[in-house]
Amino acid sequence: MRILSGLQPSGRLHIGNYFGMMEAALKLQHEGEAFYFIADYHSLTSIHDGKLLRSHVRDLAIDFLACGLDPAKCVFFRQSDVPEHTELAWILSTVTPMGLLERCHSYKDKTARGIAASHGLFAYPVLMAADILIYDSDLVPVGRDQKQHVEVTRDIAVKMNEAFGEGLLKIPTPRIREETAVVPGLDGQKMSKSYGNTIELFEEPAKLKKKIMGIPTDSTPVESPKPTEGSSILALYQLVATPADYDSMIADFQRGGIGYGEFKKRLLQAMTEHFAPYRERRAEIVANPSYVDHVLAEGAEKARAVARQTLRRVRDAVGLG
Ligand code: TYM
Repeated sequence: MRILSGLQPSGRLHIGNYFGMMEAALKLQHEGEAFYFIADYHSLTSIHDGKLLRSHVRDLAIDFLACGLDPAKCVFFRQSDVPEHTELAWILSTVTPMGLLERCHSYKDKTARGIAASHGLFAYPVLMAADILIYDSDLVPVGRDQKQHVEVTRDIAVKMNEAFGEGLLKIPTPRIREETAVVPGLDGQKMSKSYGNTIELFEEPAKLKKKIMGIPTDSTPVESPKPTEGSSILALYQLVATPADYDSMIADFQRGGIGYGEFKKRLLQAMTEHFAPYRERRAEIVANPSYVDHVLAEGAEKARAVARQTLRRVRDAVGLG
């Protein structure tokens, strides 16, 4: 079984990325042949600052490795080290109906938020299809916001197979973990860098405290029962607490007598403890900068060998070269 997924280096990783995709991806690296990559071509649709992009790529690599990504178990690489993705994207774009891309929510959301409607942003799902199809991927672990893109990938693969021969490209399946498909941010909306509501995976302790203690709450008096429905505190606590601790926070919400400040302190403690081991590992990786370069170089070589083969197969089928 081939597993593939990617993350954009658009800023430091947040716990939405972690619980929405990385945690599942880390488990899957032991269950099949996993390919995980840093989608730096994709980030060019929103970042036009070379130095910044490069530093985000490095941070992402460090953060993912710190969380337990094992380069001996999976292939970890930078998308732009495998330029075959972009050639396949062009070929795919020639069978991709405009209407398919026009229906993509992500494009509509991004342009509504003021991101320039460039051709790259519009064609983003085609590049993503190339990322997935070039590795003959079976399974694509992602959060809910990427589901439509994987569905578009399936449609494009079907179109290619219809045009150039059944079995040319493998049809992938998205893997979405329902409980954490949409991790809420500090304000209850989907956690996203562009909404400014994130908790970074490796947030500075003082900043983490400020963010958690600043979670907006209603004005229920301390002694009264608190509404559990739609509570960001509870939703975030569930991600990092044991089931027993989570149940007891629910019971305390319903009983009343405890203020939101106390619940936030419990959340802060659980969050800090959950990521503490990764923090230590991160410090070790940062102290050894050549390790990251080595991992990415090795990953690029392995990924490229597979990508070249698929591209050769596709070029043959479509009549190029
Ligand atoms: P990106 O970088 O926005 O997010 C990386 C992964 O994190 C998930 N995620 C979330 N899951 C649950 N709740 C949230 N609040 C949340 N925020 C982010 C995303 O669903 C994603 O799985 N287009 C992709 C990157 C990409 C890719 C690919 C993914 C490029 N090529 C090929 C899979 C296969 C993206 O922008 O993800």
